[in-house]
Amino acid sequence: MLFSFLLTIFSTLCTAVGLIYVFYYIYFNVILLKLKTKSIESYKGKVVIVTGASSGIGSSIAEKYALLGCKVAIVARRENLLEECKSNILKKHKKLSQKDILIVRCDLTKENDCKEMVDKVIKEWSKLDIVVWNAGVGSLIDFSKVDGRFDIFRDNMDINYFSLVYSTSFALPFLKQSNGSIVVVSSLAGKFGTALRTSYSASKHAVQGFFNSLRNEVDNVQITIVCPGFVKTDFHSKVATLDNKVIERESNHFMTPQVCADHILEAERMGKRELIMTPKARIGSKLTAFFPEFIDYMTNLTAKSSIKK
Ligand SMILES: NC(=O)c1ccc[n+]([C@@H]2O[C@H](COP(=O)([O-])OP(=O)(O)OC[C@H]3O[C@@H](n4cnc5c(N)ncnc54)[C@H](OP(=O)(O)O)[C@@H]3O)[C@@H](O)[C@H]2O)c1
Ligand SMILES: *[C@@H]1O[C@H](CO)[C@@H](O)[C@H](O)[C@H]1NC(C)=O
Ligand SMILES: *[C@@H]1O[C@H](CO)[C@@H](O)[C@H](O)[C@H]1NC(C)=O
Repeated sequence: MLFSFLLTIFSTLCTAVGLIYVFYYIYFNVILLKLKTKSIESYKGKVVIVTGASSGIGSSIAEKYALLGCKVAIVARRENLLEECKSNILKKHKKLSQKDILIVRCDLTKENDCKEMVDKVIKEWSKLDIVVWNAGVGSLIDFSKVDGRFDIFRDNMDINYFSLVYSTSFALPFLKQSNGSIVVVSSLAGKFGTALRTSYSASKHAVQGFFNSLRNEVDNVQITIVCPGFVKTDFHSKVATLDNKVIERESNHFMTPQVCADHILEAERMGKRELIMTPKARIGSKLTAFFPEFIDYMTNLTAKSSIKK
């Protein structure tokens, strides 16, 4: 008697919660997303900044925005690689001209460089529509062996977090004017913590906290946080380690930067608040609330499998 009564209550509750979730999901992820999605044509003439465009994911993002008819400022420290990125894009796409791509040499860890980056773009094109904060570096360190070498922690925060605080502050007035958008390239490490990533993961978690808060302060600037999984770029050979040795990666299953960039442009165009890029991690992030120990174990295992034995 009591048992069947409890069972009825339980199943009614489950159905109610399930239904609420289905309606919530349909409203925010189908209906609202449809309404927010911008047309491909609307990108013509938009002014875009892409940081970290001298390599990897950033170069690909820059090329794709240029192809949509945007004016693109490509930003990084290595000017020769920016020149290469620009000439590659112009060579591949004959309709584009020199004036569509602006090279901005900039060390984003310096406040003043970030200010000058925005100033240069405004001076050239008088407005700003989209910024893609993509520049970043990784680290893999065994925290038990840190022994006072905290510089990696500071360096990770400087480029992965503080550079975004500076750049966003200087770009925001212009983004408000244009009802623009901010795209933040975080990482699955911004959602989960795994072995060897105390420093990297903390810097990406900081970024997520910053932009999730900012989203509540500015209502006419879209903020899209993207969290790629493993991507095949130079990132992995530049990862900071305690002994400065490169850790070999098992990269056969890594995503290509081109596919990653496609997902990023699509997420911005659809006005998504966050995109977790691998299906496994999407499921994991939903299940963390219910099975935290299990998801912890699985994410740690996945991270470990990317390192060559
Ligand atoms: N590859 C992955 O598996 C992966 C996974 C998840 C998330 N991500 C994230 O994706 C983003 C792009 O990474 P990627 O894989 O394309 O790596 P990448 O090929 O190493 O590119 C990193 C870019 O950041 C720029 N950069 C680094 N420090 C800078 C500084 N102080 N000032 C200006 N630019 C700076 C680099 O340019 P210069 O050296 O010329 O300055 C380079 O263009 C990063 O934020 C990374 O955390 C990558
Ligand atoms: C920004 O949005 C506001 C409110 O919807 C609108 O009045 C304004 O014209 C828009 N500005 C631009 C530059 O699109
Ligand atoms: C996480 O992975 C590391 C290897 O990268 C391993 O040494 C560690 O034991 C794992 N942690 C847990 C709790 O399974």
